[in-house]
Amino acid sequence: MQLPDEAITYQYQGLLLPTVEPWTVTAELRQQHFLAASKVKEIAARIMAVRSQVATERSLRDPPPEMQPLDAGFFDLPPQLLDQHRKAGEASELGNIIRLAQQLRDQTDRVVILGIGGSYLGARALFDSLKHSYHNELAAKDRAGVPRIYFEGNNVDNDALQDLFELLQLTCVEPESREERWGVIVISKSGGTLETAAAYRAIRRELAEYYGSNPDQVRQLVVPITGKEGKLRDLAHADGFDDHDVLTIPNEVGGRFSVFTAAGLLPAAVMGLDVRALLLGAATMTRRFLEDPFERNPVLQYAAVNHLITTECRKPIRVLSVWSKKLEALGWWYDQLLAESLGKNGQGATPITLVGTRDLHSRGQQHQDGGRDKVINNLIVKSPRQAPIMLGMADKNQDELNQFNRKGLPDLMGAAVKGTNQAYWDAARPTADLVMPALSEHAIGQLMQMLMLATVVEGRLMGVNPYGQPGVEAYKKNMLALLKGQ
Ligand code: PA5
Repeated sequence: MQLPDEAITYQYQGLLLPTVEPWTVTAELRQQHFLAASKVKEIAARIMAVRSQVATERSLRDPPPEMQPLDAGFFDLPPQLLDQHRKAGEASELGNIIRLAQQLRDQTDRVVILGIGGSYLGARALFDSLKHSYHNELAAKDRAGVPRIYFEGNNVDNDALQDLFELLQLTCVEPESREERWGVIVISKSGGTLETAAAYRAIRRELAEYYGSNPDQVRQLVVPITGKEGKLRDLAHADGFDDHDVLTIPNEVGGRFSVFTAAGLLPAAVMGLDVRALLLGAATMTRRFLEDPFERNPVLQYAAVNHLITTECRKPIRVLSVWSKKLEALGWWYDQLLAESLGKNGQGATPITLVGTRDLHSRGQQHQDGGRDKVINNLIVKSPRQAPIMLGMADKNQDELNQFNRKGLPDLMGAAVKGTNQAYWDAARPTADLVMPALSEHAIGQLMQMLMLATVVEGRLMGVNPYGQPGVEAYKKNMLALLKGQ
């Protein structure tokens, strides 16, 4: 059972019009740029109907053509995976993921994860938010058996990939020693994405060069994750992989909704994260979404409020202001989720990730004083994981910090969040707070599932199909034609 202080909350008073406010210039501006509480009340009834609609459509096995694509498999996957694992243990999908993760951890000290878009950003968000900020720099004994992790195959950047190969060549010279062995996870649901396929082809050559032509050994060091069929699966078969050693992204789960499939879970398990806690967090959020009333339902609140502020208050830019450096990649993951899901038919808010306080020294000026085209959703972590760094007393007080000697960095962060929100309020800039208890697997599981569910609900409110990304095909088609010389 979830304790209340472990739950994620969405607090949006910072964008609601005060009920009574004497006339001032700022109050007048708030009238134009903030949301009336009555509007939120009005949409609450409509959004309940949308919840029923998305709850029903998630069980449609053969949706009519006008509803396609429909990739709602992510809703129920977390509890399903946990249930199967409880019943079948190692023989379950999650059991197989944990087995392959253990194999990679036993065999290698470096793992390269290849993938792009939804086959990259979820795993990257998990790594950055939940692992030590300098994980790859730590000595093996301080990493507790977790390999160093690198991400590639998310571009066609020659020098970046060449740099990684150089690093592997310089640091790994003895393939017999685990400390100098590296492995690969290659992720592509379609199996045909050029960026990932090109990187995999190049890295397979590196594998052959380093380990020699010992296909049995190489198969122990590589895990492909792909759809039920496609070129990557065909290649894995041609390389002699057993079906049991190729993980599957289910058809009914879309790429950017796939963090709780093998695409996110295998990397997470290799990183030594508690994948059950991640899934439990996600399952808890789906249950809250389906059962809780609007007043206690962060999915419905986030979808309703952001939809209204985008459309009624004309705020086409949605800033996710994350108050931890460790959440920047989570912001990139949300950028993709929002942009690819709702950026359709001339609609959809433009996502921007801001890292507080760092970017207050770059974008802060514009957010405070620039165009009134933004809503700011703060993502706030209540408690740090590490012991607080205190300012303390110093003999030389030229920096005048002795007055804060009993304050720690978390106090400074708390004051920065409050002070920034106050400054935005005073300038009639709408803000809301998404508050998570801590950076833990359980909280990140809740958060990611919350944002995925809210994106689907918002799409249905807008009349936009949140699944599929037809707009992305245009560049791929042109790129292929150019490569073929057409
Ligand atoms: O959300 C999506 O479906 C996309 O962003 C894909 O994840 C991305 O294009 C990568 O596709 P694939 O996993 O097929 O290589």
